[in-house]
Amino acid sequence: MKIIFNSNLDDPAEWIPELKARMPELEVEVWPDIADPRAIDAALIWTQPPDGLKGYPNLKAILSLGAGINQLDLASLPQGVPLARLIDPALTEAMKDFCLYAALRYQRQFDDHAAAQAQRKWIYRQPRAKAQTRVGVMGLGELGGAAARALADLGFAVRGWARTSKSIDRVRCFTGAEGLEPFARETDILICLLPLTAATRGILNKTLFRMLPTGARLVNPGRGAHLIEADLLAALETGRIAHAMLDVFSQEPLPPEHPFWSHPKIVVTPHVASFCTAVSAAPVLVENFHRAMAGRPLLNQVDLDRGY
Ligand code: NAP
Ligand code: GLV
Repeated sequence: MKIIFNSNLDDPAEWIPELKARMPELEVEVWPDIADPRAIDAALIWTQPPDGLKGYPNLKAILSLGAGINQLDLASLPQGVPLARLIDPALTEAMKDFCLYAALRYQRQFDDHAAAQAQRKWIYRQPRAKAQTRVGVMGLGELGGAAARALADLGFAVRGWARTSKSIDRVRCFTGAEGLEPFARETDILICLLPLTAATRGILNKTLFRMLPTGARLVNPGRGAHLIEADLLAALETGRIAHAMLDVFSQEPLPPEHPFWSHPKIVVTPHVASFCTAVSAAPVLVENFHRAMAGRPLLNQVDLDRGY
C-alpha cells in the first residue's frame, strides 16, 4: 500500500517510522515528491496539497491528521472517497487539560490577579467555589464530552449543548436550537468545542453573548470562524464578556496587527489547545489503512452531508 503525506504542522520523519513499525509494507511519499499519483492508495493529510487530491485516481481513503476536517475544504475533495477524522487518545487528553486549565484559571480569578499586578495592587478576594461555577461546553462529542466529564469530576457545575440529546453523568445536557438559550443563560464559562459547519459558523456572536450572564468568560478552542470577532470586541467593551481565551482564529497565523494580540482582556494561544502525536495516533491510522484496502467502512468516518 502506498500513501501520500502532506502537512505543514506534522513532521513526516516522526510519523513514517511509527506507521511503518505497525505496517512494514506501507510506502509513504511526502508531497511534493510523488512518483506516480496513480499508485497512491490513500492520503494522510492535515491540509490538501496545493494541487488538491483530484489527480489521484485510485484513492481509497482520505485520513485527516486532525480531529477537525474543515481545513480540508470538503467541497474540493474528490467525490466518493471516504474521509476519516482523527480520534487520538493523546489529542483528547490534551484538550481535556486545556479546558480544565481554562476553567480553573477563570474560577480562581488568575486573570484578575494578573490585571491587579500590572497596577501593583494587592487585591485579596476569595473565588467562587467550583460547585457554584457553571461551565458550559458547546459540542459533546469526542472532545467536548471528555472535557465535560473531566470538569464534572473536578467539581464544576457542568452544562453541555449538542445537536442531538445526550445523557452524561453530572452534566446537564441541552439540545438543539431551542436548548441554546436555557444552556447559555446559566453559563459562567463558555467553552466552544463544536465542529465548524454551516450551522455553527459564527455561532459565537452577539445574540449568544446577550444570553450569557453579564461578565461571562469565553474559551474558544473550536475553530476561529465560530467567532464573530467584532461581536466579541464589543462584548468585552461593555463587560458582557469579561475575558476570553482564544486558541483558534479565522486567519492563522493571527496577523501581527490584529487587535486580539494586545487586548487586555484576551489571551491568545497559537492553536495549541491540543495536538495529535504519531505514537498515539498510529494504531487507528494503520487500522484505517487496512480498512481502506479491504473496502470496509473507516473508523471515525465523516458524514459529509452533516459536515462533521
Ligand atoms: P465531534 O466528536 O464530531 O463532536 C462534535 C459535537 O458537536 C457533537 O456533540 C455534535 O452534536 C455537536 N454539534 C455539531 N453540530 C452542532 C450544532 N449545529 N448544534 C449543536 N451541536 C452541534 O468533534 P470533536 O472530536 O469533539 O472535535 C470538535 C472540534 O474541536 C473539531 O471539529 C475541531 O474544530 C476542534 N479542535 C480543535 C483543536 C485545537 O487544538 N484547538 C484540536 C482538535 C479539535 P451531536 O453529538 O448531537 O452530533
Ligand atoms: C486541530 O485543530 C484538530 O482539528 O485536530
